[in-house]
Amino acid sequence: MSKKLTLGLFGFGVVGQGLYDIIKTKKLNLEIKRFAIKNPDKKRTLPLELFTTQADELLDDVEINTIVELIDDADAAFHIVSKALKNGKNVVSANKKMIATHLEELVDIQQAYGTSLLYEGAVCGSIPIIRNLEEYYDNELLHSVSGIFNGSSNYILSKIFNEHMDYDTALKQAQHLGFAETDPILDVGGFDAKFKLAIVASHAYGLYVKPEEILNIGIDQLSDYDIRFAREKNYKIKLVPTAKEIGNEKVILYVIPKFVNEKSILYSVENEYNGVVVQAAFADQQFFYGKGAGGHPTGSAVLSDIAALRYDYRYEYKKHLEATQLNHSNNHKITVYLRYNDESILEKLNFLKVSERHYAREFKYIIGDINLESLIANKDLLAADKGFVVEVP
Ligand SMILES: NC(=O)c1ccc[n+]([C@@H]2O[C@H](COP(=O)([O-])OP(=O)(O)OC[C@H]3O[C@@H](n4cnc5c(N)ncnc54)[C@H](OP(=O)(O)O)[C@@H]3O)[C@@H](O)[C@H]2O)c1
Repeated sequence: MSKKLTLGLFGFGVVGQGLYDIIKTKKLNLEIKRFAIKNPDKKRTLPLELFTTQADELLDDVEINTIVELIDDADAAFHIVSKALKNGKNVVSANKKMIATHLEELVDIQQAYGTSLLYEGAVCGSIPIIRNLEEYYDNELLHSVSGIFNGSSNYILSKIFNEHMDYDTALKQAQHLGFAETDPILDVGGFDAKFKLAIVASHAYGLYVKPEEILNIGIDQLSDYDIRFAREKNYKIKLVPTAKEIGNEKVILYVIPKFVNEKSILYSVENEYNGVVVQAAFADQQFFYGKGAGGHPTGSAVLSDIAALRYDYRYEYKKHLEATQLNHSNNHKITVYLRYNDESILEKLNFLKVSERHYAREFKYIIGDINLESLIANKDLLAADKGFVVEVP
């Protein structure tokens, strides 16, 4: 018999409203008792007495046994989620930044207080990847998990490559459609994909890796030269996070734009859709595909977590508890195309091998091998140079 859930819902924006729309169409053994929001003067689609700006009215309400956290402020979200878990309430969150930043602490709190935090909606919207990594791949040797994890930047790249739309118009459309984070640099700078990658790495390999230790290069410096270069070679550019196990001892994690050709399964993942490619030892390649952003797709993943809480489901973090030889490392060589402006940057980046160079006044690029450590160490330099980096397959 499932238990009745009385919910306190934080946030009534794109995802909060999306979740509410889904819940009201279904006969489920749950009710939303109260909503917490930030701005008391905003127009709402529900009676105003249901809303409060006082978090503790939900967190200290003994009738509320489940908190759903769907706000766009990671610091406030951490305070809400940790207090709720300590108050004996189970929690569902879609806040990847907050979870990736505080995961280890949140696991400790769950274990100390016997409560459960679920966050499927935080990674790739509607695609059920966390529970799969947690449950299904337990005994599998996972070689790698990669794909398209950010609906907003994928939407922008799709519009540019398929419809010749300019970058700014595509970004505005993504924002208008509710795919983009409140601060767009989180999407186009590769931060959002990196937060998701840190969470994926945790459930895939049992590692806690701080987001600041992971390289993220985004699409915000993409220029017409890069687009032309890609088109001439029949490539599209996709923003691809990668988690890969190397030699049973290290796991490498990075987010970078990547050239993909039609042979890649990611080539046809367009617009706000996400795709997750799992490479496993005996199952070989498997592919998960679905909407990665938007109120209703994300709301459906949040509802799936809420439904799981009716049966007291919790992540067991078994891979973290097992002794393992695996460590996170950035000592790994990748091949990149780098469009650059200032010649002096090349010396600092220390390319290990150069396979191609092009030198014209407005458009200089180099293709060669480079260590992830070097890209991380020189990230500020790369940003100041306003160049663009793409991994070459
Ligand atoms: N949009 C997506 O496609 C998507 C997909 C996956 C995950 N997510 C995640 O879901 C979360 C919500 O995203 P969203 O797109 O729904 O954001 P949003 O549309 O900007 O809505 C944010 C909501 O949070 C409320 N809020 C902000 N600070 C608050 C606080 N301290 N206390 C209570 N309420 C507060 C806002 O209140 P007001 O209404 O008063 O402004 C608003 O209702 C984020 O963590 C995001 O990363 C979003």
